Amino acid sequence: MAIRFEKIVTGRFGNPEASTLAGYEAAGGYQAIRKILGKAEPKNVIELVKASGLRGRGGAGFPCGLKWSFVPQSLNPKYLAVNGDEGEPGTFKDRELMIRDPHQLIEGIVVACYAVGIAKAYVYIRGEFDAPWRAVERALGEAYAKGYLGENILGSGFGCDVYAHRGEGKRGHPRLKPPFPAVVGLYGKPTVINNVETLSNLPHIVNNGAEWFAGIGIDEKNTGTRMYCVSGHAARPGLYELPLGLTCEELIYEHAGGMRNGKALKAVIPGGASAPVLTAQEVREGKVRMDFDSLAKAGSMGGSGGVIVMDETACMVQAAGRLARFFEHESCGQCSVCREGTGWVSEIINRVEAGRGRADDLATLASIDPNMRGNTICVLSDACAMMFGAFLKKFHREFEAHVEQGRCPLGSPYPA
Ligand SMILES: Cc1cc2nc3c(=O)[nH]c(=O)nc-3n(C[C@H](O)[C@H](O)[C@H](O)COP(=O)(O)O)c2cc1C
Ligand code: SF4
Repeated sequence: MAIRFEKIVTGRFGNPEASTLAGYEAAGGYQAIRKILGKAEPKNVIELVKASGLRGRGGAGFPCGLKWSFVPQSLNPKYLAVNGDEGEPGTFKDRELMIRDPHQLIEGIVVACYAVGIAKAYVYIRGEFDAPWRAVERALGEAYAKGYLGENILGSGFGCDVYAHRGEGKRGHPRLKPPFPAVVGLYGKPTVINNVETLSNLPHIVNNGAEWFAGIGIDEKNTGTRMYCVSGHAARPGLYELPLGLTCEELIYEHAGGMRNGKALKAVIPGGASAPVLTAQEVREGKVRMDFDSLAKAGSMGGSGGVIVMDETACMVQAAGRLARFFEHESCGQCSVCREGTGWVSEIINRVEAGRGRADDLATLASIDPNMRGNTICVLSDACAMMFGAFLKKFHREFEAHVEQGRCPLGSPYPA
């Protein structure tokens, strides 16, 4: 099936000037806000984004316009929190959007603020992201100086302020929902939370229309492109902006150069650490497509767009152990099943990988899995369970062989 393809958010990546205000303007930038501020009804902008089918690129794939429509219009102030944390292992797209096209993000933020009636936006940038931080700070200065931010933008009567906030290494403290952030969020006020890539799509939707956007992708629920972050054993790992709905095999073999050194594909994690692993057989026989709904149907998820490709030499116990360490490290500790569960899972899997697995370790892992699902404040615990549950189920024989032989049957070094 031929899918229409056009680059959207990375369209200016080949143009280094595009990161400056002059370069962005010369490449057609800031036309979207000229088109709508003071001219279009904000509720019509929400309808436009709904009609485009744009879904969140941060992880959950929630429809963007629908999320905006949950914000009570009468409650003020309202905030926009821009998620530039890019915390999911395997994902490396938002940093590039912030470095290479920061004005695209800023224009997207103004579109979102106008649509929802927001006067203040905060861009949360991962603490380690020095270059993205500097790029966004510089672009904010340029945008303020030219009147694209602040009071009365372009004489439209609409104003909004955007602040960049750099992560300081403090622990996140998720809280129970409901109430959802759309009603009670930042400072107890209605808050929209959107990912950097999601927002970067908005100027293009405003400029080219909902139909144009919806025409890229596989169906009306999976529209536009994704920035697939291909890592691991592909011959050409890297960032590929491609339409939603191409197959996993097309992504690996036609775009990412196939497998490194001509080795056989063994497994793919299609959407960052939280997305359940797919076997090569599932990918091949199921002709798995890389859109939100196809991946959900295949028992995984599109998540953050991080595509981790593993060849026949990869040890699945080692891969699961690595990811388990990530979840253990990220657990904030508020929920006991997550705090204890992520720690135990990491300890057991890494012990099995190191050749010190005990006879009952695999049964213990299988018994921890259901307890970690559906019982916690946020979905980090579920994500950990989905991750190791899939590895354990789909590569059970490999786990057993580690325990039986007291070493990695593939001879993978430990720790790698
Ligand atoms: C444990 C956890 C980690 C997350 N990490 C990120 C992240 O690094 N970046 C991101 O944009 N969203 C992340 N999300 C999703 C955000 O909570 C939020 O849903 C998203 O930023 C919303 O934007 P979107 O609707 O535009 O995708 C994470 C969610 C969870 C539960
Ligand atoms: S599930 Fe884990 S990370 Fe999420 S709130 Fe509970 S302890 Fe914290």
